[in-house]
Amino acid sequence: MTRIVRTVAELRQQVRAWKAASEQVGLIPTMGALHDGHLSLIRLAQTKVARTVASVFVNPKQFAPHEDFDAYPRGEARDAELLETVGCDLLFAPNGAEMYPEGFATSINLTGVSEPLEGAARPQFFGGVATVVTKLLIQAEPDIAVFGEKDYQQLQVIRRVTRDLDLPVEIVGAPTARAEDGLALSSRNAYLSPEERAAAVALPNAMKAAIASVQAGERVEAAEAAGKAALAAAGFRQVDYFDFRDADDLSRLGPDALNGAKARLLVAAWLGKTRLIDNMGV
Ligand code: PAF
Repeated sequence: MTRIVRTVAELRQQVRAWKAASEQVGLIPTMGALHDGHLSLIRLAQTKVARTVASVFVNPKQFAPHEDFDAYPRGEARDAELLETVGCDLLFAPNGAEMYPEGFATSINLTGVSEPLEGAARPQFFGGVATVVTKLLIQAEPDIAVFGEKDYQQLQVIRRVTRDLDLPVEIVGAPTARAEDGLALSSRNAYLSPEERAAAVALPNAMKAAIASVQAGERVEAAEAAGKAALAAAGFRQVDYFDFRDADDLSRLGPDALNGAKARLLVAAWLGKTRLIDNMGV
């Protein structure tokens, strides 16, 4: 049975009891509305540690005023049922006052890896993520914490914060779960019409083609341009970025050949009203 706790004190008491019994603990932070992608993070954690804790907290600090924090989907009963099906041991579901008590005045802000790509489009976002994840890591004291590679920049931001603040936790990146045709699983895929869903496969295909061409020695700039053109031809109305970046700090690579650089291809593109993001290792 997945036990639900709502306070930091209860969370710590349980985690410390497990650790005292030599059981390692994994934390999987989420904002709820759980789907298969989240469950795969829990399953990955279970291959590494004895106990798993999922947190569900819709974090107001990572929403801009025009982004609808109130409309974000919430459904604790369903989330708890799903956690139960994969044998997650504990659900930490704090309320706003437990996370950000009256007078809360501290925030974690970082430069570098948080600034380009998603950070350029949503300047408050990674500060909000860094603040809540740092709190969760301090609250839960896990041995490992698992985040999806689907949100690769978020993963790199969290790795940076954890290193910079000497937080004693191993950050584990979980591979992106994909549909059979290669489209990354995302709750946003539900917004696609059947025609758009069929066209969406152009995204992973264009990425694979771009990676193959830079690996064959093509210039980065040319591969990026070809990728953008392929998405436009498939019906994507706007490409926010189609960039080869340094895999660790996400600094820009190119315009020339990769020359052995450790790279990651990151893409955000609009299909109708839906913004899809994806990334792949090179
Ligand atoms: O990826 C998410 O769901 C959120 O950004 C996270 C990491 C749970 C922080 O609120």
